[in-house]
Amino acid sequence: MKDTLNIRSMKLDGRIVMPPLGTYKCTEDGRVTESILDYYAARARNPLISMIITEHSFIALQGRSQARQMSVSDDGDIEGLRKLTDVIHAGGAKTICQLNHGGSTAVAGLNGMPAVAPSPVAHPSRSTEKDSKLPLELTEEQIGQLVRQYAEAAIRAKKAGYDAVEIHSAHGYLLNQFYSPLTNLRTDRYGGSLEKRLEIHREVIAAVREAVGSDYPVALRLGGSDYMEGGSTIEDAVYAAKVFEEAGIDLIDLSGGMCGYMVPGRNYPGYFRDMSEAVKAAVQIPVLLTGGVKTPADAEKLLEENAADLIGVGRELFKNADWGLQ
Ligand SMILES: Cc1cc2nc3c(=O)[nH]c(=O)nc-3n(C[C@H](O)[C@H](O)[C@H](O)COP(=O)(O)O)c2cc1C
Repeated sequence: MKDTLNIRSMKLDGRIVMPPLGTYKCTEDGRVTESILDYYAARARNPLISMIITEHSFIALQGRSQARQMSVSDDGDIEGLRKLTDVIHAGGAKTICQLNHGGSTAVAGLNGMPAVAPSPVAHPSRSTEKDSKLPLELTEEQIGQLVRQYAEAAIRAKKAGYDAVEIHSAHGYLLNQFYSPLTNLRTDRYGGSLEKRLEIHREVIAAVREAVGSDYPVALRLGGSDYMEGGSTIEDAVYAAKVFEEAGIDLIDLSGGMCGYMVPGRNYPGYFRDMSEAVKAAVQIPVLLTGGVKTPADAEKLLEENAADLIGVGRELFKNADWGLQ
């Protein structure tokens, strides 16, 4: 468990990590609070945890999905985020900032502007808005602006002291809406074939890489399979992971797509291991597997069986900062 792993400039001293978990304990405008600092400090002190991916943070107000969600959309956020990375580093863990745009999950009433998405379709597993209005279809010009917003957010994260950034394309949020054939009905260069549904990812990865420089690790969380009729599949995830590796991604973090972070009917440790094993066989970069791990022995077994290079422990750590130490 104490095996080290180098991901570009980031050196991890163990293979168990804390995946992103929304606490929604920020201020109304998404700034870090004392209770957030205490929560992360306690988990960073757990010697079993080598790295914490902090909760999904909105890159632009239009992409905010929930009240009190963390923000990385404004330069004024940097000061609070710096305090957050400081407490995590003081606890002995590395930390990654998860960059997100909610797309059609963004709540219009909350943000005072309409939700946007690749196509004006209802989200397969979430209501779009309280009044069930469909999201507006993004224009190519707006997509260009979004790509720049990811890059600007990445710069803020780096300035705030994060060791890396993670581009969020899982759980049915905006980039995952482009990836899934259920929500991307576009006929321009951003939709149609899988190749085209990945185009916005290529552009975001290139812009983020340009913004943070060649030495800084960039991860991507992919909701690789929707586990739904007509949705994305594990085969798509394998193809996409190869595209991401080629585009310069340093770590693939796997989870579900439109189904969210669970697979109906599965509750065993490593319930996405069918996907992580298939992806791991196809790429050289490290693969992170999360879902269903309850004990350090569960994580150890998944690592021994080569199901992934890193194992995430979510809800158990959410409940108990001292997970695994008893
Ligand atoms: C309360 C809660 C909040 C979550 N927030 C996020 C998030 O911000 N970003 C994300 O990618 N996943 C999020 N997830 C998914 C977790 O990262 C993880 O994939 C999921 O909990 C499954 O792992 P576990 O079985 O170890 O809990 C969240 C899960 C829960 C329960």
